[in-house]
Amino acid sequence: MTILVTGGAGFIGSNFVYYELAHYPEDRIVCIDKLTYAGNLANLKEALENDHFRFVRGDITDREAVEKLFGEEKPDIVVNFAAESHVDRSVEDPGLFLRTNILGTQTLMDACRKFGVKRYHQVSTDEVYGDLPLDRPDLFFTETTPIHTSSPYSASKASADLLVLAYARTFKLPVSITRCSNNYGPYHFPEKLIPLMITRALADESLPVYGNGENVRDWLYVEDHCAAIDLVMRKGREGEIYNVGGHNERTNLQVVKTVLKELGKPESLITFVRDRPGHDQRYAIDPTKIHEELGWLPTTDFDTGMHRTVEWYLANQKWWKDILAGEYQNYFQHMYGNR
Ligand code: NAD
Ligand code: TYD
Repeated sequence: MTILVTGGAGFIGSNFVYYELAHYPEDRIVCIDKLTYAGNLANLKEALENDHFRFVRGDITDREAVEKLFGEEKPDIVVNFAAESHVDRSVEDPGLFLRTNILGTQTLMDACRKFGVKRYHQVSTDEVYGDLPLDRPDLFFTETTPIHTSSPYSASKASADLLVLAYARTFKLPVSITRCSNNYGPYHFPEKLIPLMITRALADESLPVYGNGENVRDWLYVEDHCAAIDLVMRKGREGEIYNVGGHNERTNLQVVKTVLKELGKPESLITFVRDRPGHDQRYAIDPTKIHEELGWLPTTDFDTGMHRTVEWYLANQKWWKDILAGEYQNYFQHMYGNR
């Protein structure tokens, strides 16, 4: 079986490539990635030594390049991780998000139709449901919760999801969608909350918490997400959406304090900064469907996952220091300079 992984040089995509190579050594894994600021070949260093893995630099919105690759590889399954993924960047440049996240999805699905791909899997997010109020801990996102987006990022992901469902109904394209909560773990780009806090705390720099730090996210260790995607793309029902999350809700402040405790750094590093515009209050997933239909359950609890993640950042300082030394400096200055 040949599996085409788009966006495999990013955070979750690279973890997924390793998951597949480890669990299905007989399969061929092909990755197409544009290598934007978030894509990093260093994430795939070990995969590149494996005969069952091929990397191609390419843009999922480039129809010609996509069709050429499909023609060469005839993938059985296509799993789409490629996206612009950072909410704060989507506030700065919505157009890029619409292009990659929506038109890229269309280009891939057109190629799937043309080459008779057996399953197109879309990696989506719980952010398509908008947010839940902080004072209603009894509420969770289910697959039938209405789409209600807040940011250009989430609107672009929701648009892509709708397009995927439209291709399923109109063209009978065999599709599936997973909508996962916030991930954390190795290879997480240090613009996102957890790796940003780890890398800054290690340098004894201030930790910028948006607003009052009471916003809640539902954290899932990345390998548990990879296992869920793998199950759904191979065994999930066609045309279905599956929510993925492990009932691991934490306020941002709790998360930052966990990082500080792991590193033995003082809470005085915490600095409250201007809030994100349109900041979603709370995300919380009800994973009943994927559990009951496919038997999926998370295997890594938050404390274990955070410990493992901090250990990874301690052991892989060159990986993130190389990132921080590049274009990232301008990004940080631009986004946080006068916050
Ligand atoms: P990421 O930003 O770390 O990686 C995205 C990857 O896509 C990068 O390697 C980048 O180079 C590549 N890419 C971007 N534009 C491309 C294009 N036009 N053509 C080809 N490649 C392109 O993102 P991530 O956190 O790994 O997220 C992966 C997917 O999972 C995204 O679709 C995201 O919406 C979804 N998701 C993420 C989370 C999370 O917590 N990170 C949670 C739920 C869903
Ligand atoms: P993030 O990792 O950007 O993921 P998302 O916005 O997709 O959930 O942010 C997670 C939470 O952390 C979110 O509520 C915003 C907050 N946050 C901060 O407080 N400070 C920061 O510097 C960043 C990047 C995020």
